[in-house]
Amino acid sequence: MRVLVACEYSGRVRDAFSQRGHFALSCDLLATESEGNHYQGDVRDILHEEWDLIIAHPPCTYLTRAGVGWLYHDSKTMTIDSRMAEVKKARDFFMLLLNHRAPRICVENPVPHKLAGLPAYTQVIEPWWFGESERKKTCLWLKGLPKLNGLPEVAANPLKYIPGPVFTDKSGKKRYYTDSQPNTPDRWKERSRTFKGIANAMANQWG
Ligand SMILES: C[S@@+](CC[C@H](N)C(=O)[O-])C[C@H]1O[C@@H](n2cnc3c(N)ncnc32)[C@H](O)[C@@H]1O
Repeated sequence: MRVLVACEYSGRVRDAFSQRGHFALSCDLLATESEGNHYQGDVRDILHEEWDLIIAHPPCTYLTRAGVGWLYHDSKTMTIDSRMAEVKKARDFFMLLLNHRAPRICVENPVPHKLAGLPAYTQVIEPWWFGESERKKTCLWLKGLPKLNGLPEVAANPLKYIPGPVFTDKSGKKRYYTDSQPNTPDRWKERSRTFKGIANAMANQWG
């Protein structure tokens, strides 16, 4: 298959498909972190090509429920109106990918807020279903693809695999792995790489 992995700098999904004999190309405004077929530039430049499968990870900054509080406040750098304009831009980009004519499409994003106006997602997955040690609710919008299954051993015994809290904060609230990650300028990048377990499941089940 010809597989386009849109908005991917890590190369993880691309490599999982390449290793199984597909022609896979990652595309991102950023350079790829691992050697392989990569188009560094705007994915809209290559959407006119024929693709059998598109897996896309568009930016979630203005779409995620986690950031919704910001939409109701002017900040030093942005007014509410300018933020809503960014929400519209992000939704248009998301929908361009989801509505591509390719026969198989997966668009991945965190749980969106209602103002984003995205269509209903097909399923929610968790990294720990795929052998990873993190919790991170991730939504998939699927077209022409079956839902992604977690590892059978995890599905059979989820309580054994679900990651527990790694510490309790001063107020007594349980905190998970993500909360313990330092708030550095490239935290977004560290946090946005697709988990290898999920990339492998996509290639095994959809390849
Ligand atoms: C949330 S990150 C996804 C990272 C991905 N999960 C990975 O493992 O590399 C979103 C990415 O979309 C890229 N991006 C944003 N607009 C783009 C565009 N028009 N064309 C290609 N990539 C774009 C950004 O550079 C960023 O790396």
